[in-house]
Amino acid sequence: MTVPISRYGRVFDLLPEMIFILQDGVIVDHNPAASDGTGYRPEVLNGLRAERLAAETYRGEFASLIASQTQERKCEMVFERADGSPFDADLTIRTLATPERVLKILFVNDITEQKKKELDLLRFSNVIHHTINPIQITDATGVMVYVNPAFERASGYKAEELIGRNPNVLSSGKHTKEFWRKVWSEILEGRMWVGEIENRRKDGSLLQVELVISPIIDPQGKVVGFMGAHRDITHQKELERQLVRSQRMESIGTLAAGIAHEVGNPLTSISSLVQVILRTTQDEFAKEKLELIKNQINRITRIIRDLVDFSRPSSYVVKPTEINEVLRDALNIVQYGKKVKHIHFDVQLNAGLPKINIVPDQLVQVFINILMNAVDALDGIPGTIRLATELTGKEVRVVVADTGRGIDPADLEKVFEPFFSTKEVGKGTGLGLWVSYGIVKNFGGEITVESTPGKGSTFVITLPTRGE
Ligand SMILES: Nc1ncnc2c1ncn2[C@@H]1O[C@H](COP(=O)(O)OP(=O)(O)O)[C@@H](O)[C@H]1O
Ligand SMILES: [Mg+2]
Repeated sequence: MTVPISRYGRVFDLLPEMIFILQDGVIVDHNPAASDGTGYRPEVLNGLRAERLAAETYRGEFASLIASQTQERKCEMVFERADGSPFDADLTIRTLATPERVLKILFVNDITEQKKKELDLLRFSNVIHHTINPIQITDATGVMVYVNPAFERASGYKAEELIGRNPNVLSSGKHTKEFWRKVWSEILEGRMWVGEIENRRKDGSLLQVELVISPIIDPQGKVVGFMGAHRDITHQKELERQLVRSQRMESIGTLAAGIAHEVGNPLTSISSLVQVILRTTQDEFAKEKLELIKNQINRITRIIRDLVDFSRPSSYVVKPTEINEVLRDALNIVQYGKKVKHIHFDVQLNAGLPKINIVPDQLVQVFINILMNAVDALDGIPGTIRLATELTGKEVRVVVADTGRGIDPADLEKVFEPFFSTKEVGKGTGLGLWVSYGIVKNFGGEITVESTPGKGSTFVITLPTRGE
């Protein structure tokens, strides 16, 4: 039976969509796309009950759909081909009522491929969304269109603060225009770019990342956007810096110790000669000048002694020591001075600490240095120096915190370097912290410092507690 569709004849034979004409639930006509799509021969298809098109579990639902009086119904359903293989079908059912009869027209699109793509996309976007690596996606002009939660966490920005903006809102200003121009020329060519980047978080802190930018290319080969995958290497960078620092300290140490030994011997001779002349001369003028020379020699000797100390910790005996004892000794020496009159010492020594393997005399020197620096930082103004010990895991921590002038952020890196001093000539040698650093390192420990200018500084010395 042929249905007069229009005066253009069987236009619907040309349509790519599967079209079925149903009457009372039976297929009465269809186009070639319908028999191709379902795998039924045309003569079999005509006369087939329509619900046979649906996969078993959908038949009831499908039957009631085509029985419905509604003008138009749309839905998705699983259909089944003649050979029993399933496919995802997108359906539209329309009612065509003529005076003689009521026909249902069924339009079907096979959306299996599209479904699969959707699922792939969903799977892909889920992976991106939940990966621990910060990821951002930009359009072809570099404007951010997506950031994942890991990116929000790493940058400190919320997605809505970033979307629609250029990633340079995260710039720390470290990289030059030229640098970015090169990056862009690579990725616009459709190539991947890998490198290390320094970004700035919302709170202003720096974030070191390894960044992989890959262009997103459409089927026509056009770059439609970019995906940036980040790996946080802030910690790794910090370790690298520490390593470089301790290597530098070590080489300076070796050099300094060499010089100290070379200078030490002639200095001893000069010193003895000065003493001899001082004792024998009657000349008052010469005596006075010799006293000055002696003072200067003493000063040099002190420096030399510090340098040698740094390089020769093995000349002392390591023994299990009560760290609190060492701290009390250091405190007694420091509190003896006049400069501490206005200083409140807040001492909280934890009684239950295990003994640690150190050279007590050397460690006393470390704490005298650090405490004296704290006293100097208070500079005669009333303030507090807190000295505390505690056990954290396998380490003993000694905290020396003062409410003094603090350290300029630019100097924070340098305070442990030899001869770095902000004190007047004659007041400081700049060796105190350097020597302390060397001693603490030798016992497998660590000294760190934090400071807020104008508020104070905190030095933390950690020492390992191996053995009792
Ligand atoms: N507690 C502190 N407060 C402020 N600045 C400090 C403190 N400790 C050390 N410094 C800074 O570090 C520098 C180096 O200290 P140090 O090595 O002991 O040498 P010195 O005390 O001879 O200057 C000091 O000159 C000072 O600028
Ligand atoms: Mg000092």
